[in-house]
This record gives sequence, C-alpha cells and structure tokens, in this order.
Amino acid sequence: MADLTLLHIIIFLLLRCFSSVAIELTEKETILESWDILTSYSQANEWPNLSRNRAIAIRTQRDVSVNNTIAYTVVPGVDLNTVVFDQYGYNSTSLDSFKTLMNVGIQSFVLHLYYDETHKNWLLCPKEKIIEQSKLDEYTECAVNDFNLTSLVSTLNSFMLLTNNDLNINIMYLLLKLESFSFSRNQTISTSLRNSSIDSLSTVFETINKVVSPLSIDNNNLPTLHDLLYKLSQRVFPIVIEDQLNYNTSYNLLDDKYSLFVGSNNDSKSISNEETNVLSVDIQEEYSIECQTIESSSAGSYLRFSYDTETYPYDLQSYWESIQCGYSPIISHSFDNLSDISSFLEISLWSWVPYQPTITTTDELSIPEIFQNLTTRNIHEEFNSNTYSINITSSLSKHLTGSVSNYTSNNRDENEDFDDEYNNRCAVISRSGWVATTCDRKLYAICINSKNSSDYQITSEKRTYTKADLECQSLDGDYELTVPRNTLQQDYMMSLIPDDESALWINLNSLSSKNCWVVGIDSTCPYQSVISHHIFVQMITPSSVMGFLLFVLFLFMQFQQLPVHKNRKYWKKLLNEKLKNDYDGVPS
Ligand SMILES: *[C@@H]1O[C@H](CO)[C@@H](O)[C@H](O)[C@H]1NC(C)=O
Ligand SMILES: *[C@@H]1O[C@H](CO)[C@@H](O)[C@H](O)[C@H]1NC(C)=O
Ligand SMILES: *[C@@H]1O[C@H](CO)[C@@H](O)[C@H](O)[C@H]1NC(C)=O
Ligand SMILES: *[C@@H]1O[C@H](CO)[C@@H](O)[C@H](O)[C@H]1NC(C)=O
Ligand SMILES: *[C@@H]1O[C@H](CO)[C@@H](O)[C@H](O)[C@H]1NC(C)=O
Ligand SMILES: *[C@@H]1O[C@H](CO)[C@@H](O)[C@H](O)[C@H]1NC(C)=O
Ligand SMILES: *[C@@H]1O[C@H](CO)[C@@H](O)[C@H](O)[C@H]1NC(C)=O
Repeated sequence: MADLTLLHIIIFLLLRCFSSVAIELTEKETILESWDILTSYSQANEWPNLSRNRAIAIRTQRDVSVNNTIAYTVVPGVDLNTVVFDQYGYNSTSLDSFKTLMNVGIQSFVLHLYYDETHKNWLLCPKEKIIEQSKLDEYTECAVNDFNLTSLVSTLNSFMLLTNNDLNINIMYLLLKLESFSFSRNQTISTSLRNSSIDSLSTVFETINKVVSPLSIDNNNLPTLHDLLYKLSQRVFPIVIEDQLNYNTSYNLLDDKYSLFVGSNNDSKSISNEETNVLSVDIQEEYSIECQTIESSSAGSYLRFSYDTETYPYDLQSYWESIQCGYSPIISHSFDNLSDISSFLEISLWSWVPYQPTITTTDELSIPEIFQNLTTRNIHEEFNSNTYSINITSSLSKHLTGSVSNYTSNNRDENEDFDDEYNNRCAVISRSGWVATTCDRKLYAICINSKNSSDYQITSEKRTYTKADLECQSLDGDYELTVPRNTLQQDYMMSLIPDDESALWINLNSLSSKNCWVVGIDSTCPYQSVISHHIFVQMITPSSVMGFLLFVLFLFMQFQQLPVHKNRKYWKKLLNEKLKNDYDGVPS
C-alpha cells in the first residue's frame, strides 16, 4: 500500500517535472521564434536593400519632425574615404558601395577632395595613392576616367532621382574636407591619374540634383525640413567642414561661395565669417559629446555631427547616445564587411526602437523578455534631465546583426495572421523609443497643454489608444495627446514615464493605412491620394517580392473590407469607417 502511494507520488512528480519542462521549452521557443521573426526583416538580412521596417520608420520620423528646423534632423553618416575608398579602392567599385550606403539610409557623407596645385585639378585620390599607382604598369585605383568627382556626383544623382518622391525624399549632407598638394618637378604623373578636367568645384556641385543653394538659405534662420524639401525643393547640403588648402593655394574658394556652404567649425583661410554661406556647424569627436550642454534655445540653430576614429570606434552604446543627443553620427572606422554597418543602422533613429514599427504581427510588448532586451535603459535618479544612460544589452547586439537561427523553419507564414491585420497599429513611447503595439492595450498617455508647449501631463487613468486623447482632455486644462517631434522632446517625454510603467501612448497610429504612420486618430495616410499605388508599395516595401504581397493586401484593404478579428467589433467599425473615407477620396 505504502509502495503504491510512493509510486503515485513519483509518477506525479515526474509528470509535474515533464509538464513544466514542456512549458518552459515552448516559452523559450516562442521567444526565440519571435526574435527570428523580428530579425528576419533586419537590415543585415535585407542588405543591400533598405529593410522594410526601416523604410517605414525613417519616413515616420521624417514626417513627424517635418516642422522642425533642419538643425533637429539626426541622420546616420559615414566617412567615404575611411569606410569605403581606403577599404575597397579608389575606383568605380567603391561607387557601387556608395550607392548601397545611400540605399540603406545613410544620409551624410564625409568626402575628401584634393586640389593638385601643379596641374590645377580637383582629385578624389590623395597624393601618396597617386604616386603609388603611378609606379604600376596598370592602374587599379585613381584612374580619373572611371573615378572622379563627376562620376561620384552621377552616382549621387541617380539615387536622388529614384528618391525624389513624397515617400522617399529626405535631406542629405555632403561634408567636404579640402586639401591641396603639389607634385615636384621630377615627379612625372600620367595624365590618366591626374587630369580630371575639374578646375572648379562649383561647376560639379551645381549639377547635383536638388542641391541646396546658399542663396536660398537664411543662415541665422534655418528652414524647416518641410520648407526645405517641399517649398524650396532642395535636399543636398554641400558643406566645406575642413579647409586645409595651402595658404598659398592658387584655388580661390570664394568663387564657390554661391554653391558651397562653409561650416562655422573650421577657420577657413579663404572665407571670412561675414560671408553669406557660413553655416553654424558643430562637429565633435564621439567621446567629447556632452548631451547636457545642449540648450533647447540653441538646439535649433546648429547642425550637429559627431564622428569616431579607428582608435576609438563607435560601439552601439556610444552611437546610440550620439543620436539621442541630437548629433548625427558619422562612422569613420572601417568594417571588414560593409554590411556590418547594419547593426548601427538598426539603432540610427531617435524615434523608433530597433525593428520597429514591426511589419510582423509580433507584438513586442507581449513578450516581456524581448521588449526588455530591446529597450533596456537605466534611468538615473534625476528626473527631467538629459542624463540617461542607455544600456544596449549584449544580447541585443547579437540580435542586431540579424542572425537568424532555425526557429522560423516551422510553418509560420506571413499571411497566417490575416485576422490580426490591425495588430501593432498604435504607438507607445518606451524608455528607448517608440514601439508599435495593439491599440486595445490599456496604458497611460502623454498629454501636452495646447496653451503651453512645455507643460506635459500623464493621464490619470489607463485607457486604450482610442480613449487616450479623451483621457488627456479630461485633465484639468487644455491637454491633448502628443508625440515627440525631435530628440529633445523625445528625451523629455521618456523621462516622464513613471517608474513602474514601461510605456505610454503617444499620438501616432497607422489605423487608416497599414505601414503609414500618422499623427492623430482621425488622420489619414497622406500618400494614398497623391501618388500611385505603385510608388506607395515600392516605398513601403523596398523589395519587390514582399512589395507585391503587400500591394495585393493594400488593394484588398481598399476595395474589400478589411478583415478583422471576429470578436472585436469596435475595431471593425472604426477601421471600416476609415477605409470608406480613404476610398471616397482623401482631399490632397
Ligand atoms: C506642419 O505645419 C503645417 C502648417 O502649420 C501643418 O499644417 C502640418 O500639419 C504640420 N505638420 C506636422 C507633421 O505637424
Ligand atoms: C569621369 O568619370 C566618368 C564616368 O566614369 C567618365 O565618363 C568621365 O570621362 C570621367 N572624366 C574624365 C575627365 O576622365
Ligand atoms: C605653398 O606652400 C606649401 C606649404 O604650405 C609649399 O610646400 C609649397 O612649395 C608652396 N608653393 C608655392 C608655389 O609657393
Ligand atoms: C535578454 O537579455 C538577457 C541579459 O543580457 C539575456 O540573458 C537573455 O538571454 C536575453 N533574452 C533574449 C530572448 O535575447
Ligand atoms: C538551419 O537548418 C539547416 C537544415 O536543417 C542547416 O543546414 C542550417 O545550417 C541551419 N542554420 C542555422 C543558422 O542553424
Ligand atoms: C508652462 O509650463 C511650464 C511647465 O509646467 C511652467 O514652468 C511655465 O510656467 C508655464 N508657462 C506659462 C506661461 O504658464
Ligand atoms: C533587393 O531588392 C531587389 C529588387 O527590389 C530584389 O530583387 C532583391 O532580391 C532584394 N535583395 C534582398 C537581399 O532582399
């Protein structure tokens, strides 16, 4: 009898043990599977294309901040010489890499230009390289017939032409470092290494598509991103950030003052500070950035850049901090493989958390471990100061490289969750940025006083997204739901997240159209009415295969009714109303 009981107990314990192992395994699998789903759309995986969710995230960030002056734009950058040319050669192969970098969303480029005083030509190759090549029988680099400033500008222009549409257009910076050298009498250099026929910078830079002209910019009153892109219809800033031409140079930089800007950061020998084309530029080495010293009063007048070096390269941590501080980081250290830059690109937006807004149906907020690993951010005690220290966990860095394990191999397919079509269509702010989540989650919301733009309040009740604005209005005063428009506001709003909360509603959703994020619950996607479906789809999903799937989905949404979860009638009604409006025609 006693034996039987003991047996029972043992069996019972064994069963317990087994079932708990089983449960643990499934949870772990779900987590890993979710990581895989997220990382399968990573920039590293989609290289050399722009990853789909980054395309959407970049556009959302642009649209939300479009009324800020361009000084608030934070863009990823690289030093073309150290990252590309030194690595892959001063030849046309590197121009392909330049194209790829623009394609994956790099928006600022440092470029060294060399003036050959002896032959009065602008060259892309440094002197040592030319001399080294001139000793070879066949030139592998620096041959001006396939690698010159004109061919570089053509590469740039072909990208411009592809992206001159409402969906893709964005600002770009060409940051120039000018140097000069001369050859001595006894150095005979073949003309195919030195005769670029470019004796004036203006003549080349004026051919850049939508180049920003110093004549159209009031340097003391920078335009908003909106006015630059859509009113002035300009987008590429050519700025001399380093003028190292010899004192006795025969090149007169003043001749270029109607086409090139000069950064206030360098004491240019040829252009005085009274010149009309001097732009306020603040360029810092990565480790010397001090976030706290940026006054909001001066934030809108300086273009800010930071750069790293081979000796002190960015890590994900310092890169992120630069972005969050409002300094556009310029990567100057080389990579063994150019696509390794992807993990930096994944965190190159001040707004969204990596992999957000996810185009999968995975709701990160529902998977605490992933959400936490994506958004770990240690808050210092000081409230309301720019002194956070973020902490990108090593596990996140691993995932940022986009490595996919084998969990996606089971039969999960992209269209499986048609029922969850409206998953992840409302945005929250977490301690490291925005996350797309299910709209019917109950959360506090961030409200702004419409009469006082520095007065923010958190709602007193947790509500679903649709009720968040009402909840703001119910506060004492003229409050409404708000969204951060730049890094300063982002930083401040993050600091308002209560200690025991991980996220708050912000005024951002994609209810009217999937993948099109807009401010305001009643707003419709601005792109549907103005442009063809084709471009819409092309931009939403840079790679065409997925693009086609979404195109079908898009049409489906437009002409059929949106398939919604059966037991969520409210959403069905809301979305149907929205879609009907869209279909009836959005006024442009
Ligand atoms: C930008 O400002 C214009 C005019 O004030 C306004 O119509 C538009 O809605 C604003 N856009 C955003 C994204 O705030
Ligand atoms: C510059 O490069 C382009 C494109 O490779 C070429 O067509 C052009 O002839 C080159 N310019 C010179 C002066 O060789
Ligand atoms: C110009 O200055 C550089 C050094 O600054 C010197 O090497 C060069 O010989 C000078 N050239 C002329 C023509 O004086
Ligand atoms: C989350 O981060 C912790 C700490 O770095 C790590 O132990 C854990 O494995 C990570 N989880 C996932 C799913 O990556
Ligand atoms: C995934 O599984 C396949 C076949 O089972 C295997 O060949 C491959 O190496 C695996 N990949 C990874 C990253 O584990
Ligand atoms: C606006 O709000 C801020 C923060 O609450 C407060 O310090 C300031 O006095 C307010 N300004 C006005 C004009 O009420
Ligand atoms: C990149 O996009 C092109 C065209 O849209 C597509 O053919 C190619 O397969 C894509 N590459 C990757 C790695 O997704």
